[in-house]
Amino acid sequence: MENILTGTKIEKSFGDDPKVTILDKVDIEIKQGDFVAIMGPSGCGKTTLLFALSGTDTIDQGSIECEGIRLTGMKERRLADLRREKFGFIFQQPTMLKNLNLLDNILLPVLQNSQKNKADNLSRAKALMQKTGIIELAERETTKVSGGQLQRAGICRALMSQPAILFADEPTGALNSKAAEEIMTLLTTINQEGTAVLLVTHDAKVAAKAKRVLFMKDGKIMTELNIDSSLEEERVEQVLSAMKANGV
Ligand SMILES: Nc1ncnc2c1ncn2[C@@H]1O[C@H](COP(=O)(O)OP(=O)(O)OP(=O)(O)O)[C@@H](O)[C@H]1O
Ligand SMILES: [Mg+2]
Repeated sequence: MENILTGTKIEKSFGDDPKVTILDKVDIEIKQGDFVAIMGPSGCGKTTLLFALSGTDTIDQGSIECEGIRLTGMKERRLADLRREKFGFIFQQPTMLKNLNLLDNILLPVLQNSQKNKADNLSRAKALMQKTGIIELAERETTKVSGGQLQRAGICRALMSQPAILFADEPTGALNSKAAEEIMTLLTTINQEGTAVLLVTHDAKVAAKAKRVLFMKDGKIMTELNIDSSLEEERVEQVLSAMKANGV
């Protein structure tokens, strides 16, 4: 199966004097339908890796390919188009425009699309809001919903372009455990429907939803856990023992 994303010997450092290596020759492959979690101590380079793989930030050495197309060295304009078409992003807290309601915020990324797609976009946004359980909040101001509801809106927005891969940096980091569980159930469904998911988390229960867990340390991927149980409790147990073995 073709990789959606292939990172080869990715290197990144910050600063000149001294130069600090943040990503140290990282190799990573994400396949269609993959669900990958990245774990590791604070500062080990997880967010930097996500930014590098998604073309959000540049790298010093190595290459990144999306479905066989090389992102590294690509012209900015083309890279922006590719990111918009292929990638969806969710963060700890979605950034929403306060003067727009939830529905309009979800529609934002596709505003540039041609006029003839307007009706399709609107029905897609509404279908996503229905699916994520926030359709009643379509007209609501973004400051008047809960954190979990706002994150669901963030997920709807990320899915508007039908991305091949969803990047998520600690998507449950700002949520209570019930809302976190709901968001993870949603991400699992989205993954089962065909979108690859690459997420960063510190939470064993969150990582336990993934198929593979990569453990990072000092800018390197040290080990990979393939979760092989279908029982929730055993999955969490597997992640917890791998965390312990990797000093997370
Ligand atoms: N723009 C920058 N300039 C200089 N150093 C940076 C920059 N961005 C990140 N770093 C450093 O790179 C290292 C890795 O940061 P990164 O944000 O990738 O860590 P992380 O694994 O995501 O941590 P956390 O779990 O706390 O989010 C850190 O030491 C950080 O201070
Ligand atoms: Mg981070």
